[in-house]
Amino acid sequence: MVSIRPGPPAARTATRWIAAGGKHSFRASHGPLHTARGIATGVAIQKPTVDFPGPPNRLPVAPPIERNILRERKESIKQAKPFSDFLTDTFNRQHDYLRISITERCNLRCLYCMPEEGVPLSPPAHLLTSPEIFYLSSLFVSQGVTKIRLTGGEPTVRRDILPLMQSIGTLRSKGLRELALTTNGISLHRKLDGMVEAGLTGVNLSLDTLDPFQFQIMTRRKGFDAVMKSIERILEMKNLGANLKLKINCVVMRGLNERDIIPFVEMGREKDIEVRFIEYMPFDGNKWNKGKMISYQEMLDIIRAKYPDLRQVRGHKNDTSKTYEIPGFVGKLGFITSMTHNFCGTCNRLRITSDGNLKVCLFGNTEVSLRDLLRKDNNGQPIDEEAFEAIKRVEMDRRQGLLGDETALGWGERERELLEVIGAAVKRKKEKHAGMGQLENMKNRPMILIGG
Ligand code: 5AD
Ligand code: SF4
Repeated sequence: MVSIRPGPPAARTATRWIAAGGKHSFRASHGPLHTARGIATGVAIQKPTVDFPGPPNRLPVAPPIERNILRERKESIKQAKPFSDFLTDTFNRQHDYLRISITERCNLRCLYCMPEEGVPLSPPAHLLTSPEIFYLSSLFVSQGVTKIRLTGGEPTVRRDILPLMQSIGTLRSKGLRELALTTNGISLHRKLDGMVEAGLTGVNLSLDTLDPFQFQIMTRRKGFDAVMKSIERILEMKNLGANLKLKINCVVMRGLNERDIIPFVEMGREKDIEVRFIEYMPFDGNKWNKGKMISYQEMLDIIRAKYPDLRQVRGHKNDTSKTYEIPGFVGKLGFITSMTHNFCGTCNRLRITSDGNLKVCLFGNTEVSLRDLLRKDNNGQPIDEEAFEAIKRVEMDRRQGLLGDETALGWGERERELLEVIGAAVKRKKEKHAGMGQLENMKNRPMILIGG
């Protein structure tokens, strides 16, 4: 175990060091741990190099397909980065999307998410610190993650969300392409401008009704006007040219908000919004019952009764939702059909809970602690910026030969260990989650403790 020497306050922030040094130490000391993405074959190819060197040399001859598709494919091969074997599972799914829960707290109490009394929260020392979240983000980005979403609980209740986003935003220079947020929108309008400056590219806003009274019933709290203010601010910023996608997530429950489906659809007549209707899912403590679930098919029938022109459009490869449009409407519609049609085959997501567990499937109860591994060098204690600086100094000394390798379990070693644990968890990921009938009987965390 390395003992951390207390030192003078850091001149540079730990976060900056972690971005550069952490990645470097892993690469420098451990050689060929990456694999390259075999786009054309769909097979991960072992690559004997540690930098991003471009596509593999020999690709199989493509079958005769239309020229533009071929061109698109060639382009994607040209731009392809090597993809880490650690993030590739045994079904060849490459996990380039990381969702990080940054708090267990929430300022609402949605019926489908948690019991009225809330859920027992972890002691603060069990939760990841911002430098730890940034470190893990850097590690995943170094392995090929291109999209990070911050979730909760309600992420905007975390006091330092802005500086945290600013630091994660710097990973754009390391390959991060999207930085997104899932929020209930209550306090978003106050922080949105700063977030966009930090690099926010997408907001999924949870809103289940357009009726202020129904809002209070479904969330057990007031706040409808604040949410609408956030939506308006997002649309304003988009009009001003911000590169910001807005999706509204609406969980549909029988007897509660099915009459909101049509008003939500009509929001898209003039507004550039995608409203996604979500099938109600069972989680611990949410009193799920099958009768309250409205299926994708039933939602389609409700919309088609008024808008028979509703038609499906092609979505993106890893979309969890099925996308639709109504001719003449600016906005789009989506359906998240977790209960009736799973979309596990194209799943590219991993989750980190606020207490630092890696969860490879929303519906799986297997988790591994990244936090405990991370903190090994800090006697199991939360790592703040100062502690990261101290670890950095030990690691730098070790690499300059000032400390013997045999005495120092340096950070490079820790990083390798983390990747191995992550890789093993990803390799254990199942092909698909349990179906309806089994899902509701499975033990899982309440949704609020997983992070949407
Ligand atoms: N069923 C479906 N979606 C849920 N969410 C939370 N609980 C459930 C549930 N039981 C979704 C909400 C919210 C996000 C945080 O998680 O849509 O947008
Ligand atoms: Fe809070 Fe989101 Fe859960 Fe609602 S669904 S209680 S907004 S975490």
